[in-house]
Amino acid sequence: MKFKTDFLIIGSGISGLSLALYLSKLVPKVKLLLITKESLHESSTYHAQGGIACVWNNNDSFEKHVQDTLIAGDGLCNETVVRNIINKAPDRINDLIDLGINFTRNENGEYDLGKEGGHSERRILHVNDQTGQSVEQILIEHVKKLNNIEIRENWCAVNLYVKNLKCHGAYILEQDSEEIHNIAAKATILATGGAGKIYLYTTNPDIISGDGIAMAYRAGAMISNLEFYQFHPTCLYHPYAKSFLITEAMRGEGAILKDIRGNEFMENYHPQKDLAPRDIVSRAIDAELKKSGDDYVYLDIASYRDSTFIKDHYPGIYEKCLEFNIDITKELIPIVPAAHYCCGGVVAGIDGSTEIKNLFVIGEAACTGFHGSNRLASNSLLEGLVSAYECASYFSKHISELKIKDFPEWEPGNAVPSSEAVVITQNWDEIRTLMQNFVGIVRSDMRLKRALKRMNIFSEEIDYYYWNYKVEKNLVELRNLSMVAELLIRCALSRKESRGTHFNQNHPHKLELARNSYIKRPW
Ligand code: FAD
Ligand code: SIN
Repeated sequence: MKFKTDFLIIGSGISGLSLALYLSKLVPKVKLLLITKESLHESSTYHAQGGIACVWNNNDSFEKHVQDTLIAGDGLCNETVVRNIINKAPDRINDLIDLGINFTRNENGEYDLGKEGGHSERRILHVNDQTGQSVEQILIEHVKKLNNIEIRENWCAVNLYVKNLKCHGAYILEQDSEEIHNIAAKATILATGGAGKIYLYTTNPDIISGDGIAMAYRAGAMISNLEFYQFHPTCLYHPYAKSFLITEAMRGEGAILKDIRGNEFMENYHPQKDLAPRDIVSRAIDAELKKSGDDYVYLDIASYRDSTFIKDHYPGIYEKCLEFNIDITKELIPIVPAAHYCCGGVVAGIDGSTEIKNLFVIGEAACTGFHGSNRLASNSLLEGLVSAYECASYFSKHISELKIKDFPEWEPGNAVPSSEAVVITQNWDEIRTLMQNFVGIVRSDMRLKRALKRMNIFSEEIDYYYWNYKVEKNLVELRNLSMVAELLIRCALSRKESRGTHFNQNHPHKLELARNSYIKRPW
C-alpha cells in the first residue's frame, strides 16, 4: 500500500515520541505517522534506570557538567554541541515535568539528585530506578491524545528511498500482513536507537539492531565513530537474567566492586575508584576476570546501605534480583560488563539534520559530537530530548519548503518464503559471538582483521538471502546488524590508538591529535 504523510517518524523511544509531541506543538496542522518495530513502549528508553543529567541546584554549574562531559568524551566531543545541549537541559526537563513526570524527591521535598560515574556533582534526576519506564509511559499517554498522529506498531522500516541525496520516505514492513508499504513523507526522521544486539551480551532490548544506522549508511549518509561502543560495567550475571542492568547510581550511593574473594580492586585502576568513567571500570573488570579466570565480579551495596534505603532507591532492581534468589539487601550481586551504548552513529546536527536532504536522525542513532569517544552517564536521554525539540523547531521554520514526492513501489523480485530459517539464526549467533570475543572491551589488530574477514563472508550470505527470499523482520535485523558490525570493525581498524571506549592492545596509547573516524558508502 502507499501512504503519504508530512512527517514519518521511525521509532518510539524518548526521541521519537518527544519529537511527535514537539512537532504537534511547534508546527501547526501537520500530519504525523509514527511507526515502531514492536509495541509502542519497547525501546532502550523504557529500560533506562539511572536518570537524566541536568544542572539543577546551586552547587552545580553548566561549566562543571560541560567539563565532565568533555573529560569522558576524551578529546572527541564537539564543545559547541556539548555547551548547547547542556544549557538547554533545564528547559527540556521542565517540559517533562509539565507533562507530569514525578521525579523522585528527598525528605525536604527537593528533587533527589543522583550521582554517577564521571560526574563531579549530584545532577541526575530520576524516578527511583525506573526513570525510563516513567518517561516512556508519560510520553505515550500524551502522544496517544494527539489527533494529528497515526501510530503503527509492529511495523519495521526496511529501507529509505533516497534519490540524488534527497530522502522521499521509506519502505516499511507490516509484520502481520507481511506487506511492504511505500510511505512518502516531506521528512523522514530516524529515531531508531543504537545497535546493542551486535554483541552477545548487551543491556539493550532485542529490537536494537542498528537498523537506522545501517539504513542511513546504505542511503549514502556519513557515519562516524562506531568503534566507540560503550560497555556498561554492571550487568547482572545470571543464566536467566538476559543482561539486566544494575544502575551505576548504586555506585554513586556507595556500592563497591569486589572480586569473588571479596577484595576491592578499583583503587588499582583509577583515582576515582568505583566512580571512574565507565570505560575504565569496564576494562578494570575485564582485566580482573582475565587475570583470575572467574566468570563475574561482585557489586556490594548490602555492606554500605541499610535495607530500607536499598528497597526505597532501587525497587525495580531489588524485585528483579529476588526473582533470581538474590536478596540485594543482604547479598553481593554478581555482575559482568555488557555492550550498552553506541557513541557513534549517523553524523547529524543537534536538530537531526544530515547530509541527505529531508532525512533527520535523532537520539542514540545519531552522532552529534555530544559524547565523543565515551558517553557520560545519563547524558543520553538528555540528548534525545534536546534533539527532538531542536528538530521540531527547525521544521517550524522550514515546513513550507518541504514537498511530498511519490516513489516506486517495493520490488519483491523473485522472493520466496525461506525454508532455511536456521541459517538466519546461525548467522545471528555467530556474528554476535564474534563481536563479543574479537571486537569487545579489549581489542587487537589481529582479532579485528580476523573479524573483518569473517564479516565479509557473512555479508555475502546475508545479501543472498535478502535478495532471494521473502523479507521478514529477522532478516532485516540480521542484515542491519551485520552491516553495523562490519562498519564498526572498519572504524576500529582505522584507529591506531586507544581512546575512550576503544582500547587496542597493539596501540595502547592515545595519539596527540584527536580525530573522529568517518565512513561512507562508496558509490
Ligand atoms: P530507543 O529508546 O532505543 O528507541 C528506538 C526505537 O526505534 C524503538 O521504539 C524501536 O522499536 C524503534 N526501531 C528500531 N529499529 C526500527 C525499525 N527498523 N523499524 C521501526 N522501528 C524501529 N541513558 C540515560 O541517559 N540514562 C539512563 O539512566 C540510561 N539507562 C539505560 C539503561 C538501559 C538498560 C539501556 C539499554 C540504556 C540506558 N540508557 C540510559 C541509554 C538510553 O536509554 C538510550 O540511549 C536512549 O533511550 C535512546 O533513545 P532513542 O529514542 O534514541 O532510542
Ligand atoms: C545506569 O543507570 O547505570 C545507566 C545510565 C546510563 O546509561 O546513562
